[in-house]
Amino acid sequence: MENTGCHTPGDFERGQQDKMIEANLARVGRKILVMSGKGGVGKSTVASYLALLLSMNGKKVGLLDVDLHGPTIARLMNVQGGFDTAEAGVVRPYRFSDNLGIVSLEMILGDRDTAVIWRGPMKISAIRQFISDIEWGDLDYLIVDAPPGTGDEPLTVAQTIPDAEALIVTTPQEISLADVRKSINFCRQVNLKILGVVENMSGLLCPHCGKDVPIFGSGGGVKMAADMNVPILGQIPIDPEMVDSGDRGDLKGLMEKPDLKVNAAYKRILEGII
Ligand SMILES: Nc1ncnc2c1ncn2[C@@H]1O[C@H](COP(=O)(O)OP(=O)(O)OP(=O)(O)O)[C@@H](O)[C@H]1O
Ligand SMILES: [Mg+2]
Ligand SMILES: [Zn+2]
Repeated sequence: MENTGCHTPGDFERGQQDKMIEANLARVGRKILVMSGKGGVGKSTVASYLALLLSMNGKKVGLLDVDLHGPTIARLMNVQGGFDTAEAGVVRPYRFSDNLGIVSLEMILGDRDTAVIWRGPMKISAIRQFISDIEWGDLDYLIVDAPPGTGDEPLTVAQTIPDAEALIVTTPQEISLADVRKSINFCRQVNLKILGVVENMSGLLCPHCGKDVPIFGSGGGVKMAADMNVPILGQIPIDPEMVDSGDRGDLKGLMEKPDLKVNAAYKRILEGII
């Protein structure tokens, strides 16, 4: 048969994958992409904490780590094990709890110190497969944790999940805010709806006198959000307990401490999102 060139196997497979992606995403209520301009501002912590909070509020939640170079979700959430393959031929997310499933590249890599050196097309392909080939089931929320910046990963998410909403994390100082403006412009360019900005590491409560110490300044994110005309979802203070429980893979343990200021901050952010 003559090959007209329009139905190469590549196109066909991609078309099939598009259909699988569409079918899987149709079962998900809201899709939230957590991103930032700068690294280390707390994206993975925010993504994990929000996923935990939503799941504990009775929502069905999926948490997807697309930070292929430095996947941290598995560490923060102390994921012990891989995908749920109990049913033959079906791959489901790692079951953190009844309401929360997690997928991270680290679950496949095994060794936590393996460096992933992947080029653009491989990253795009891996992210698409995380959505097409994994049986996420019916979800109220899919939270996606991205690496910093506006590279292949957030772009692939924006293109693969057209109705995703961006949650942009920043710290209060100007050097971080300058990068956030880039993230906001990226969202506008690729038509990604902006859910809002979270100002993380916003001040520290002095353990000695209880006064607020503005280490990175405070309110910069709020002002920037107003200038750029995007909603501010909340400000989360610096809390050494957050670092400690993140390091121990026990973010969930923090939620059992109702007096922590971070918990009040997260509660407000959660209300803003819902
Ligand atoms: N509110 C907070 N108070 C104190 N420490 C925090 C807070 N939020 C995050 N951290 C800590 O900051 C560090 C970086 O956080 P995290 O890994 O979530 O950032 P990230 O933006 O995902 O980084 P990357 O850009 O490398 O992906 C971690 O040690 C984490 O525990
Ligand atoms: Mg991260
Ligand atoms: Zn003090």
